[in-house]
Amino acid sequence: MPVSSPPLALYVHFPWCVRKCPYCDFNSYAVRGEEGTAGSSQVPEDAYIDALIRDLDAQAPRGLGRALISVFLGGGTPSLFSPEAIRRVLEAARRVFGLAQDAEITLEANPGTIERGRFAEYRAAGVNRVSLGAQSFDAGMLAVLGRIHSPEETCRAAEELHAAGLENFNLDLMYALPGQDVRAAVADIERALALEPAHLSHYQLTLEPGTVFAAQPPPRLPSEDESAEMLAPCVERLSAAGFSQYETSAYARPGRAARHNINYWTFGDYVGAGAGAHGKFTDTTRTLIVRTVQTREPRRYMAAPVESLAAKFVEPHELPFEFMLNALRLTGGFERALFESRTGLKWDKIAAIIAGLEARGLVQREGSRWQATPFGARFLNDLLVRFLPAERERSGRPRHEIGALAIDAGSLSID
Ligand SMILES: C[S@@+](CC[C@H](N)C(=O)[O-])C[C@H]1O[C@@H](n2cnc3c(N)ncnc32)[C@H](O)[C@@H]1O
Ligand code: SF4
Repeated sequence: MPVSSPPLALYVHFPWCVRKCPYCDFNSYAVRGEEGTAGSSQVPEDAYIDALIRDLDAQAPRGLGRALISVFLGGGTPSLFSPEAIRRVLEAARRVFGLAQDAEITLEANPGTIERGRFAEYRAAGVNRVSLGAQSFDAGMLAVLGRIHSPEETCRAAEELHAAGLENFNLDLMYALPGQDVRAAVADIERALALEPAHLSHYQLTLEPGTVFAAQPPPRLPSEDESAEMLAPCVERLSAAGFSQYETSAYARPGRAARHNINYWTFGDYVGAGAGAHGKFTDTTRTLIVRTVQTREPRRYMAAPVESLAAKFVEPHELPFEFMLNALRLTGGFERALFESRTGLKWDKIAAIIAGLEARGLVQREGSRWQATPFGARFLNDLLVRFLPAERERSGRPRHEIGALAIDAGSLSID
């Protein structure tokens, strides 16, 4: 079965933050805390942008004449970089791959790093969408989460976004926070909606291995049942405000779903540039899918951004799981034809698994689209296990495998 050439996006990773948040396992380093930079409070802006441009140039062959449908400048905290630095990266992306005329260009920003007028400058540099890490509007909760900003700073940043003509912005919120109850979770949604975002990402707090919170969980964490109870009224409130859920954690006004993330979830291609960035590339001539990953550690990456890119073919028997890990997150599911064109596999390969899941009420068909049922969506990991290659299922390691892959998908900066 021939595999088709999917749309191409670009993810660029910026690996520094003012401070490391205790719940965060992304590849990010406190500006002052990174090894070899004691005393420095600045990101090594020029050196990092030079390395990124070398990285983009080296990955030019992956373009295959496809202009980028989206660029995501994620982190870490890309808003620690100046508008001029962002302009240089976007100029290189345009030169190397070309940008589609309506390309979505998103910058992730921390409200604690935004000076007055900054968003207008980012917009002039080419950014047309912003993802703002609000997390909560409760000042005490922000302190527990180790955030560097106040609720007022988030509100000011949102005002700045409107003033700069960047109405297409996302707010990241987390729920199931320490000591949070249903009322407080809904209050956060209300405060977020008052800022008139176009998109809202609503993540359940997870204790990621290797983080401060995993080692020392904060007191009064809601149970799984309490967390699930918080979700329904939040979704109701979002829906009443005109936001539809289109993915496990993503809600958008009509026409404002994040194109970059949809490209991940529909198994599109993406170049990953920057320290620790992941990429995916479809080689249509050989019917192969290749995953790439860059060196994680920023100093090593800056020393050798070109040589350090590791690539691995995805074995055909791994493709059903990889495809489903992404596509079943979408509330609207996926077309059977998409599975075949993106993986190069015939539907027969998974028909028996799908039939079994349908019989158990975990997936359903709506017209020509397959999607997780609400029950399946609640137990998505258990559902996905069915698509793991048989030998792994037998080895009893599926949960670990899912965790590792889910983290990989997360580190592609899904806002
Ligand atoms: C990679 S972070 C980048 C955003 C930006 N650096 C910031 O925090 O302002 C993207 C989002 O992932 C979410 N996130 C990170 N760690 C999480 C965790 N352990 N549980 C739930 N959500 C998490 C947060 O909402 C965060 O804004
Ligand atoms: S949550 Fe955002 S600001 Fe906090 S450490 Fe992670 S990437 Fe940095």
